Amino acid sequence: MTRVFITGGASGLGRALAEAYARDGAKVCIGDIHAERCAETLAALSALGAEAHALGCNVTVEADLEAAATWLQANWGGVDLVFNNAGVADAGGIDEMPLADWQWMIDINLLGVVRGCKAFVPMLKRQGSGHLVNIASMAGLIHPPMMSAYNATKAAVVALSETLQAELYPHGIQVSVVCPAFFRTNLAESVRTANADMARLTAKLINKSAIGAEQIAALVKAGVARGDFHVLTHPRERRIWLFKRAVPFPVYAGAMRRQMAKMMAKRPARS
Ligand SMILES: NC(=O)c1ccc[n+]([C@@H]2O[C@H](COP(=O)([O-])OP(=O)(O)OC[C@H]3O[C@@H](n4cnc5c(N)ncnc54)[C@H](O)[C@@H]3O)[C@@H](O)[C@H]2O)c1
Repeated sequence: MTRVFITGGASGLGRALAEAYARDGAKVCIGDIHAERCAETLAALSALGAEAHALGCNVTVEADLEAAATWLQANWGGVDLVFNNAGVADAGGIDEMPLADWQWMIDINLLGVVRGCKAFVPMLKRQGSGHLVNIASMAGLIHPPMMSAYNATKAAVVALSETLQAELYPHGIQVSVVCPAFFRTNLAESVRTANADMARLTAKLINKSAIGAEQIAALVKAGVARGDFHVLTHPRERRIWLFKRAVPFPVYAGAMRRQMAKMMAKRPARS
């Protein structure tokens, strides 16, 4: 029976993944800092008939990830799929975002994934099997303006994942990196910004997206089952990434600037 651990598993994509694997009969353990949503998600997983567990787990605390690995080893004899999913968002210009917010973002979005990998890799090496699935973003491959810290952390998660897929291959460990564009979750709640216009735009892009977390979870599950390294869930943004790789950079940069000017012109008005 597949054993799954998911950070940030109490909301959005993490919860949708938890439910999708539970529906397939997997054992699912979620780790999150949101106690109320953890309890709700655990109840939903139990209602699906799954063997499930919820841990208070803050990805900024190395000991919390190590405790999660210890719990999985002690109770389920190991783990098959580790989703480093917990994340937060920003919005605003480089001159608007304080360094403290950069540090907050790096600590969760990048070092949270690093801590998850470090805590679980020794167990996966002993097993000689397992799959690390790091949730980055399309922002890790193409980098829109006014979200520099988010882009930088997600690009670093792509780089970390690419490094580990080669490093861990000889140990029988697979690595995937998931790069979605916007989809509906509670992510807008986490946005730190001093720029109210950008906060509204980010919230609109997330909350009004045509795609929900369940659809993304299904695509992620299929990509992970295939053993894809890049799991790209949004066809339009995938095409933009392929375009970026195929043309000289100034061609891509010009197209990106024109696209961004259009998007900024459509910013939601102040209420
Ligand atoms: N929603 C989108 O449009 C979108 C697009 C691309 C990538 N992503 C990525 O998907 C992942 C999941 O986000 P989501 O959209 O489902 O958002 P969400 O806010 O619905 O879920 C994120 C979860 O992470 C938890 N979390 C936050 N900080 C934590 C910490 N320090 N330790 C443990 N848990 C913590 C939150 O409590 C929450 O339950 C994130 O990495 C995000 O960057 C989201």
